[in-house]
Amino acid sequence: TNTLTILGIESSCDDTAAAIVRHAPGTEPRILANIVYGQAELHADFGGVVPEIAARAHAEKVDLAVEAALSEAGLGLRECDGIAVTAGPGLIGGVLSGVMHAKGLAAATGLPLVGVNHLAGHALTPRLVGTAPYPYLMLLVSGGHCQFLIVEGPESFVRLGGTIDDAPGGAFDKTARLLGLPQPGGPHVEAEAAKGDPDRFAFPRPLLDRPGADMSFSGLKTALMRARDGCVARSGGITAQERADLCAGFQAAMRDVLAEKARRAIALCAERGTVPTLLAVAGGVAANLELRSALERVCAQAGLAFTAPPLRLCTDNAAMIAWAGIERMRAGARDDWTLSARPRWPL
Ligand code: KG4
Ligand code: ZN
Repeated sequence: TNTLTILGIESSCDDTAAAIVRHAPGTEPRILANIVYGQAELHADFGGVVPEIAARAHAEKVDLAVEAALSEAGLGLRECDGIAVTAGPGLIGGVLSGVMHAKGLAAATGLPLVGVNHLAGHALTPRLVGTAPYPYLMLLVSGGHCQFLIVEGPESFVRLGGTIDDAPGGAFDKTARLLGLPQPGGPHVEAEAAKGDPDRFAFPRPLLDRPGADMSFSGLKTALMRARDGCVARSGGITAQERADLCAGFQAAMRDVLAEKARRAIALCAERGTVPTLLAVAGGVAANLELRSALERVCAQAGLAFTAPPLRLCTDNAAMIAWAGIERMRAGARDDWTLSARPRWPL
């Protein structure tokens, strides 16, 4: 048969993940196992991911994650049809752990090996969880990335625009740090924002005066810092209400910029003669409900469907890597022991 059962391995940032996905043509893919070992507590004291610590934790955990995935799926490795592994972009120590482990498993079993671009994993996730016919429009928005893509095929992406400085998730994390909230900051900033007034402090809407889908978020960080320092200068600290209002203002600016740029990305598709029927969002920031509903409104106005994968598949995971591996293998892709780990790897 043409059924493929693929082991996926992901270790490019601060999650060590292994998953098994099975797919028969014409049916929906099935996630047989999806193991994610996070490292948040290892990095908690440092206010961000420490590459050395991440690399060591990946090296210690990657084989355990694979074993846990196989046992959850009730499969032996030899019952799989191939191994897919994130080969970049990401923190090189972690990517290397995954790639070397995958090569070892492939060498020991003779199973085919495919390297997967982490961003392609996120970008193909809508097809793992439902029907997303090519081409579709994608907003990839995570801790380190922000871009609009036309996804034309498993190895064919057109970048319409992206951030020229910070990524939204990183900006959420920085905001949390500046306001004394825990990491990763996104969910905490969102929770605070729900209690706040978005209009109390002025936040810019960067790059909306420029055409195209490029974005900039570093100005939001600066605005937040300045507003916070203003509060501190006035009263020696910030009150709970000020903190909530700062979060609300920051999140509203983020939402407005991403929604307007989504409108522009849809227009850019039309200019290129591509007619996508769907806008999908993925990456950790896709968890943000304010953002989701703003994008939903944009899509409703433009006559596009909107989809966001379930949360555990929006954030870093290996099921998306296994799925991207399935799509690549079906397209005839194979890698061998020369597969290298790439810290930078644009789509
Ligand atoms: O995709 P992801 O798990 O990791 C990569 O960056 O590849 O995304 C993590 C990012 C973090 O910066 C986190 O703060 C952000 O996603 N995030 C959120 C929310 N949940 C997670 N940002 C805003 N609102 C949220 N609810
Ligand atoms: Zn990611």
